[in-house]
Amino acid sequence: MKITCIGAGYVGGPTMAMIAYKCPDIQVVVVDINAARIAAWNSEELPIYEPGLFEVVKEARGRNLFFSTDTQKHVAEGDIIFVSVNTPTKTRGVGAGKAADLTYWEGAARLIASVSTTSKIVVEKSTVPVKTAEAIEKVLRRNCADPNVAFEILSNPEFLAEGTAMEDLAKPDRVLIGGKETESGQRAIGVLKSVYEHWIPTERILCANLWSAELSKLTANAFLAQRISSINSISALCEATGADVQQVAHSIGTDSRIGPKFLNSSVGFGGSCFQKDILNLVYICETVGLKTVADYWHSVVHINDYQKQRFVERMIDAMFNTISGKKIAVLGFAFKKDTGDTRETPAIDVCKGLLADNAKINIYDPKVTEAQIHNDLSLGKFMWDHPTTGGTASPRQNAVSVFKDAYEACKDSHALAVLTEWDEFKGLNYQKIYDSMMKPAFVFDGRNILDHAKLREIGFIVYALGKPLDPFLQRNYS
Ligand code: UDX
Ligand code: UDX
Ligand code: ADP
Repeated sequence: MKITCIGAGYVGGPTMAMIAYKCPDIQVVVVDINAARIAAWNSEELPIYEPGLFEVVKEARGRNLFFSTDTQKHVAEGDIIFVSVNTPTKTRGVGAGKAADLTYWEGAARLIASVSTTSKIVVEKSTVPVKTAEAIEKVLRRNCADPNVAFEILSNPEFLAEGTAMEDLAKPDRVLIGGKETESGQRAIGVLKSVYEHWIPTERILCANLWSAELSKLTANAFLAQRISSINSISALCEATGADVQQVAHSIGTDSRIGPKFLNSSVGFGGSCFQKDILNLVYICETVGLKTVADYWHSVVHINDYQKQRFVERMIDAMFNTISGKKIAVLGFAFKKDTGDTRETPAIDVCKGLLADNAKINIYDPKVTEAQIHNDLSLGKFMWDHPTTGGTASPRQNAVSVFKDAYEACKDSHALAVLTEWDEFKGLNYQKIYDSMMKPAFVFDGRNILDHAKLREIGFIVYALGKPLDPFLQRNYS
């Protein structure tokens, strides 16, 4: 059996590496139109950072795992074609700012149709709007010249989270396969199931109809994001009342119906999926006339934007309502720890908010490159996932400096803000940092990872999300 995956990104790359690693009897080829990305997958410096990924790639690469730009050849030869291309939010036209842009998906479907001389199972791996399979099937059927070629479409959404992708792939809570309820649909489900059964217990492989599988992925991400917005909304109330959001989260998390995970209050959720998938869900609800349902889910994104804005306002207010010309150290730019990924990171909005008030920002992140940071701060909303639309240089780009060291970033700054929960930030020498900063020296902990009592002992004025406010901050913020 030969598997071909179109799209060598965050999802396609690690997923195919794991399939090849666990199924030595199956040939797996990952293709991409981006030659630089493919070259990186074939090198010692993989294009994405993911703990454990390199070891898995090294074991399987050249054995039964290959990365290639020869899309046509490998798609033509594949029995199962995974499609794992980007599905950005539309930036223009009908549904702009909400609907998924399926340009890349449709391109992949047309390619499959044009080169196929044998029947294939086509697997939706990237998140797509519900009923995409139906549209894709039409494109495949109408564009394939050979009437003997049959296409069976499956939805097999990916639930891996970045930073823990390899663990999630090796031991998933579940694998979900959606297919048609016809005989050939069920047969195709069986084929894909047999791939996963190489390492996943059968009872963890759930089968559903196509639309349920597609909707499950959007719903899972919407529910996860909703938990974060819920606890973040409570963090604002905690600050207003003197409650402590971590105590509240712990208390509610011990109710087995609620559960303890995904209750960390933060400066906001980021990542390539949550906002995009919710907006997608909102758009689908609107198009089928369910405005109340659309509004309900949209509020999850509104609270996320509110949380980022609130954080910036706290900073400005604490620093005597002016940050103009002040240096602010930003520790962490990635959307979460253990990844170099910055897609939709809350740090972008926070930095833009600070720049809008004329601050100078010194950024340090252990994994994000300087070029990436400048690029992110120059792009407009929703532009990040559109490879052809480059950013325009930000007029205040010279107000942003990127450092290779947290101490250097903090030197001479008025404040430091923790925006990503990197473990190394917990172990920094804060006395040394305090001594090098302007006074009063502020800490804004957007992830609640630091030892606030100790920081106060050193002399910092500390703002921690959802925690009782320092008397100093109460005076300034009313
Ligand atoms: C609730 C809380 O569960 C309890 O912890 C608190 O102390 C008081 O409020 P109660 O109102 O007695 O308890 O019943 P509960 O089982 O929570 O159900 C509340 C409502 O939600 C019921 O109308 C129930 O039918 C409905 N429900 C519950 C659903 O519609 N779907 C569900 O999945 C669960
Ligand atoms: C998410 C889903 O978890 C995954 O199942 C899906 O396949 C893709 O989207 P990912 O975006 O990689 O994965 O990371 P995740 O760990 O879910 O974190 C998303 C964002 O939420 C991050 O910015 C993170 O910092 C934030 N977060 C998470 C919180 O603010 N609080 C929490 O308690 C958990
Ligand atoms: P994800 O996070 O969903 O994996 P990425 O943006 O990381 O998304 O990866 C998607 C990849 O798909 C990109 O590397 C892009 O170049 C690739 N791609 C998009 N369209 C095509 C296509 N028609 N053929 C081959 N690769 C494609």
